[in-house]
Amino acid sequence: MNKIQLLALILAIYGWINLILLLVKKGLYHYLCQKALNQIHVKGLDFSTTKTGFQSRKYFKCQMSLPGIWRTVGQHIDLKGRSLLDVGAGKGFTLFEAMAEPFKKVAGVEINTDLAKVIHKNFALLGIPPILIFEQDCLSLEQQLDEYDLFYFFNPFNRGVLSQFLEHLNESFNRKPRAISIVYFYPVYDTLFKKYGYSRQVVIKMHPFLGLTKLGQVHVFEKTIKSGSSVPHQSVEKDLTPGL
Ligand SMILES: C[S@@+](CC[C@H](N)C(=O)[O-])C[C@H]1O[C@@H](n2cnc3c(N)ncnc32)[C@H](O)[C@@H]1O
Repeated sequence: MNKIQLLALILAIYGWINLILLLVKKGLYHYLCQKALNQIHVKGLDFSTTKTGFQSRKYFKCQMSLPGIWRTVGQHIDLKGRSLLDVGAGKGFTLFEAMAEPFKKVAGVEINTDLAKVIHKNFALLGIPPILIFEQDCLSLEQQLDEYDLFYFFNPFNRGVLSQFLEHLNESFNRKPRAISIVYFYPVYDTLFKKYGYSRQVVIKMHPFLGLTKLGQVHVFEKTIKSGSSVPHQSVEKDLTPGL
């Protein structure tokens, strides 16, 4: 075997290992979600995965977060009295789980109005009083952001939109200085936050195996009044890499 053949063999083995790890990772994620959903015996409930849009030759997906997000995050940060906005609320699974926690206020923003309708239907089926869902692009929220101090992302969009949202959040912070936390599940663009004045508070592994990958991790970023006051204005990034 010559050097080129050996290199090709190594690359092929590397590719196969990555493919197998990807399949195991996605399979485990779906298994954990399905296991949790099987315990909710409510007919007509819909937290299923939906394709929500097409960008850069890939589909964006609405998937539910790994079950137990708030119970786990609540072991690391104090949720009591916080006002939560789920940015990209999907079909409302995370909001549903948030209802069991001591938040002061819980709301969501979802660009896809069909999904927003599913949230309201799911909540009605679960016997939960209706909550506020902004049925719009999160980038069109302005003063409304000032009402919240804890923002949740399940990797809802690409790097460009995330940058623009963090920019809007900085404007909100300047209007109303306050401690802001961002709970970021599947933190694909975690390196972006530092530029907007956030420090990484904690990295939470949701599962012994999945937690080794970003699909099983939650990163909590925080900006306090002191650290935020020195944040320089940032230009918006234009990368169009898709999110989920
Ligand atoms: C992965 S799902 C989130 C599901 C939910 N947060 C959960 O954890 O169960 C991401 C959602 O973000 C929404 N989304 C994407 N871009 C958005 C935007 N610019 N404004 C508001 N929602 C957006 C998508 O429609 C999709 O439903």
